[in-house]
Amino acid sequence: MKTNPFKIAPRTLRLLKQVGQLAYQRGENAYAVGGFVRDLFLKSPGMDIDITVEGDGLDFAQALARKMKARVEAFTRFGTSIVIIPGFGKVDVATARTETYETPGSLPVVEKSGIAQDLFRRDFTINAMALNLSSVSFLKLLDPFRGLEDLKKGRIRALHPLSFVDDPTRVFRAVRFEQRFQKKIEPETEKWMLESIRQKSMNTVSGERLRHEFELIFGEAHPERAVKRLGELGVLAYVHPSLGLLVEKRQKLPQLIKTLSFFKKNKIAFEDEEMVWFQTLLLSLSPAQGEGVSKRLMLSRNEQKIVVQSATVYPEMLKTLASKKMPASQLHRLLSPLAPETQCFLMAMATPPVWKKMADYFVKIKNLKPWLRGRDLKAFGIPPGFRYSYILLEALNGQLDGRFKKRPEILRWVKKTFAS
Ligand code: CTP
Repeated sequence: MKTNPFKIAPRTLRLLKQVGQLAYQRGENAYAVGGFVRDLFLKSPGMDIDITVEGDGLDFAQALARKMKARVEAFTRFGTSIVIIPGFGKVDVATARTETYETPGSLPVVEKSGIAQDLFRRDFTINAMALNLSSVSFLKLLDPFRGLEDLKKGRIRALHPLSFVDDPTRVFRAVRFEQRFQKKIEPETEKWMLESIRQKSMNTVSGERLRHEFELIFGEAHPERAVKRLGELGVLAYVHPSLGLLVEKRQKLPQLIKTLSFFKKNKIAFEDEEMVWFQTLLLSLSPAQGEGVSKRLMLSRNEQKIVVQSATVYPEMLKTLASKKMPASQLHRLLSPLAPETQCFLMAMATPPVWKKMADYFVKIKNLKPWLRGRDLKAFGIPPGFRYSYILLEALNGQLDGRFKKRPEILRWVKKTFAS
């Protein structure tokens, strides 16, 4: 057998070998699992490595950290540790385990197990493959549910009918993987999924987990596709009835994507990009509906306020922005006080001419260097005080609107009007 059939990057391969050797010394078995294995077959290896140990994962992580001069960053109640290896990255180490769900949607009760049961607790066949890391069978594939075949045939397939009842967040995962990898949710899996949704399984999921799933979707390359699909499948309505009302608004999603990439291209930074998405998803709801959805998705009070405010203010604002004879200075007065998230949201909702007007404004303002500075006013002997901000603003407005063609004109105006 070839020693590196998957063309794993040399340093990753070295690490996997070291993990295998450590397992051998400890009399345990270690496997690379989950998304890491899936992405190897998709030839798009991710950065994160997931290791599952038949033995004691927590202790194994400590030993691996000692061996690699790394540190163990976190533990979870499921016996998972994150080992941070300097110059390499992060490796998740978990104990092979079974999971049973006492009530649907709750967090599972966990027990140590072998790798076969560990794979059986997983969401989809494509995520239920493992590579043995022990030296004798190094990189031998364990694929009890034919995940590789599904990957090749383009299918997202759950392992058993109750998978979505056990963990309804898998509905979001199915859609996310389907859109990311351009695969199709297999018909029987889709049936299981829809059955679980109709039985109101979403009600059993905490707002925190729901929000997290939305955030993961917003982090994908094409979130709009996943949101659209969730709407078509009827999932959004089961998250909250008001979310299901937004069919018409979802047509704005491609324009939101276009606007987000415009902002990125022009290096306009967001503090909280998710907010743009939440604003778009929740827009045109009544304040009461907006509040209901915000609560369900655990938006903070401040986030809720932003959502409600932008939903109430945006139609009027867009109407004003559409007026034909609007000088650039007025555009600046309207737009500059807004947070980038709200600016982006507005632009995403705008008609094509207003979109263009806003885009031109943002480009102009990005490259704008005010011709008049405070130090010029000082040089004219104007005493510092509140008049400064007035004069500077007037000068900027004149520059934006083209009333001043160049700096000397502004200086002449200041001298004549304000310098005594
Ligand atoms: N998993 C699962 N059910 C979930 C979440 C995770 O069965 N609700 C399992 C899957 O086997 C998955 C692995 O845990 O592959 C790791 O989960 P995660 O890191 O969330 O997903 P990845 O598959 O690595 O996907 P991504 O590329 O989005 O990180």
